[in-house]
Amino acid sequence: MKSVRGVVVGAGVVGLSTAVCIAENLPLCSVTLLSEKFSPNTTSDGAAGIVLAAEFPDILLERQRRWFKDSFDNLLAIAQSQHSPDAGIMLSSGKAGGRVEQRKVNSLQELSDSFDFIVNCSGLGSKQLVGDASVYPVRGQVLKVDAPWLTHFIKDGDGKTYIYPGIHSVTIGGTRQEGDWRLHVDKGDTDGILDRCSRLEPSLKKAKVLSEWVGLRPSRRNPRVEREWLQLQGRMVPIVHNYGHGGWGVTIAWGTALDALELVRQCLKEMPQQAKL
Ligand SMILES: Cc1cc2nc3c(=O)[nH]c(=O)nc-3n(C[C@H](O)[C@H](O)[C@H](O)COP(=O)(O)OP(=O)(O)OC[C@H]3O[C@@H](n4cnc5c(N)ncnc54)[C@H](O)[C@@H]3O)c2cc1C
Ligand SMILES: *[C@@H]1O[C@H](CO)[C@@H](O)[C@H](O)[C@H]1NC(C)=O
Ligand SMILES: *[C@@H]1O[C@H](CO)[C@@H](O)[C@H](O)[C@H]1NC(C)=O
Repeated sequence: MKSVRGVVVGAGVVGLSTAVCIAENLPLCSVTLLSEKFSPNTTSDGAAGIVLAAEFPDILLERQRRWFKDSFDNLLAIAQSQHSPDAGIMLSSGKAGGRVEQRKVNSLQELSDSFDFIVNCSGLGSKQLVGDASVYPVRGQVLKVDAPWLTHFIKDGDGKTYIYPGIHSVTIGGTRQEGDWRLHVDKGDTDGILDRCSRLEPSLKKAKVLSEWVGLRPSRRNPRVEREWLQLQGRMVPIVHNYGHGGWGVTIAWGTALDALELVRQCLKEMPQQAKL
């Protein structure tokens, strides 16, 4: 019998990692994953998927190192396990005791009746949902091209121009446009990317463009991995926030998910008349 009901809002790489961490480690919790969009329609799906270390200005270095290391170890373990398990499938198949629901959340109030704790992994959605004005988009456009002869990645000095060979295609990019909410492909950006990348790797001039994609990085001065208690419908409800990973969500998702799990644990300990987990 599951005694505590939790909900994770958001099904990008951060929400999926967090939901799986909680479901696997807190057997007395039922976990519902609630999201407006699912794979392949999240920001996380289009990311180049490169692991690159970042440094956030106001977070203890030791904590950041842990985020990076835990995530790296997890990615390595998945890569070495051959069958990189799909976190979403794992959760929806009930293996870790979870449920998945497609829905847009308009306010936290609407969740407080059905759940004992809320985890906020809504990425850029936090701007509307939590009213966090410090979250902003950094627009990124990339192209997928057919160039199987490329086997090594190339990245220029400022990191704006890159060529990342993947399994099925080569991702070339990119752009970093702060405060730009446009989700459609920009012809000028496409031409600029092709031009810059062909200068780094002339053979790309012959490559066929397979697709174009735009994503908005959910950026913030520092990712917010914190807990708070909110009064919702006259009841104190614990909220754990885990959003604002910017251009590093794939790199640090697992590490921040483990932190979020720990914060959920702390909240549960403080919850009145709750079974010990
Ligand atoms: C071009 C590009 C390249 C990138 N390359 C890399 C890279 O190489 N390495 C790297 O580490 N990172 C990279 N990133 C960054 C990475 O994609 C993000 O950091 C990551 O996707 C953020 O994940 P997330 O789960 O927080 O957000 P998202 O993937 O955006 O997921 C947010 C989820 O919340 C849901 N949601 C939001 N609001 C609501 C609401 N009100 N109700 C219900 N659901 C809601 C959405 O539907 C969605 O499912 C790149 C990004 C871009 C754009
Ligand atoms: C992704 O978006 C497309 C287009 O809006 C939609 O048809 C599809 O059902 C979505 N996929 C998922 C898994 O939600
Ligand atoms: C997520 O956090 C943002 C920023 O504080 C807030 O506006 C939003 O309501 C939160 N959403 C959830 C589901 O907790």
